[in-house]
Amino acid sequence: MAKLKSRYVCQACGSAQSRWQGQCPDCAEWNTLVQEASNVTVFSAKHDLQGGGRAVELVGLDAAVALPERVPSGIAEFDRAVGGGLVPGSAMLLAGDPGIGKSTLLLQAAASIARSGRGAVYISGEEAVDQVRLRALRLGAAGAPVRLASVTSVRDILTTLGEGSAPALLVIDSIQTMHSDLIEGAPGTVSQVRASAQELIRFAKDRGTALILVGHVTKDGSIAGPRVLEHMVDAVLNFEGERSHQYRILRAVKNRFGGTDEIGVFAMEGAGLNEVPNPSALFLTKRDDPVSGTAIFPALEGTRPVLIEIQALTMRLASGATPRRSVVGWDGGRLAMLLAVLEARCGVSFATTEVYLNVAGGYRLQDPAADLAVAAALVSALSERPVPAEAVVLGEVALSGEVRPVAHTPLRLKEAAKLGFEEAWVPGGVEPSAGIRTARFGQLRQLVERILGR
Ligand code: TYD
Ligand code: MG
Repeated sequence: MAKLKSRYVCQACGSAQSRWQGQCPDCAEWNTLVQEASNVTVFSAKHDLQGGGRAVELVGLDAAVALPERVPSGIAEFDRAVGGGLVPGSAMLLAGDPGIGKSTLLLQAAASIARSGRGAVYISGEEAVDQVRLRALRLGAAGAPVRLASVTSVRDILTTLGEGSAPALLVIDSIQTMHSDLIEGAPGTVSQVRASAQELIRFAKDRGTALILVGHVTKDGSIAGPRVLEHMVDAVLNFEGERSHQYRILRAVKNRFGGTDEIGVFAMEGAGLNEVPNPSALFLTKRDDPVSGTAIFPALEGTRPVLIEIQALTMRLASGATPRRSVVGWDGGRLAMLLAVLEARCGVSFATTEVYLNVAGGYRLQDPAADLAVAAALVSALSERPVPAEAVVLGEVALSGEVRPVAHTPLRLKEAAKLGFEEAWVPGGVEPSAGIRTARFGQLRQLVERILGR
């Protein structure tokens, strides 16, 4: 009765199609459909599902719940990002670019948990055991009783772990290297990643182990996995940062057991990742003295806050030539609107001034919440009076000159506070936020007066 059908699976989103197409009809990515065999059971006769199954117990909503106690990893920044420690029986995905430090972070977490007397198993499908031990030596973790293996067969892993007592933490580095013999296909294909993860997650749930799967993400999304996995796991953590820079941010983008608005900050140093409990020191040293013409804006990238520097330069023209407006990373139309509002509502004229606006770091901002920060940078550039270096600025500006509240203000302020900013210039009516002073501006005019020191 079972018939082997072949299907085409999108390596980006995991959707299955019955025929090959150049573009995935579900996620619109190009050239992502790959033929995979699927063990689809096709029933020729009508099938009656009643009877033969196992009756399950239906529980009332009011039944007492015993939540499993979280296992702290001992790395405070890690625990903060995951919402207070690892949850037994849960599955988590740690995603990030290759070389960002995922293996380093998890080896450190495993060592820390093993040292606290709980079992930690670290399975590497990418490196030989000796390589992992060498890394552990470098991290000062060589003495920790972590159990290591270099395996890629899910069956072998589960057979090995089935024998002893289940570990508190099981790290699989990475899920793309794992292979399940229940299904055909090469490791790393969507079907393999899904099947392997399913088996491992079932083990974790049955045995009360906290499972962490490492998932690589490439810029072009050509390696399958993480996006398919996101639905299967309880929590998704992103490990972000520039490889050429020292700092790394661990951020929960999905968490069934906690919030997603906490981040953990680390610095990659000679002996591994060090926690950065107070990131203000790092992020602000780059800005020694406040410079006129810049303002820091807490932007949102999807649901993730990112602090972005907005730079403005103004040059007064002697002649009557038409002054230039040049924008990189923001909308030119919006800039023209802001300049008009500044002139009409606040009496700040750029009529004989060239204006250059730049969003640092090559970002393209689309968020209207950046209006107030752009206005602050413009007025600051024109007046040569800096916006305080410890302040972030956010708010949308209306044509009337009114400053309007913006979405996710608490999230943005929390991130700014976490990154060491002490003051936030916000629209009127914004609630105070813990860890950061707020200065409210109901009208753009008030912001101009504040910068001009009137
Ligand atoms: P790694 O954890 O292997 O990254 P991933 O698993 O995400 O691919 O870390 C890779 C980088 O980290 C590597 O380029 C070297 C650097 N590194 C240090 O700077 N210090 C260290 O102590 C370690 C172990 C790695
Ligand atoms: Mg690695």
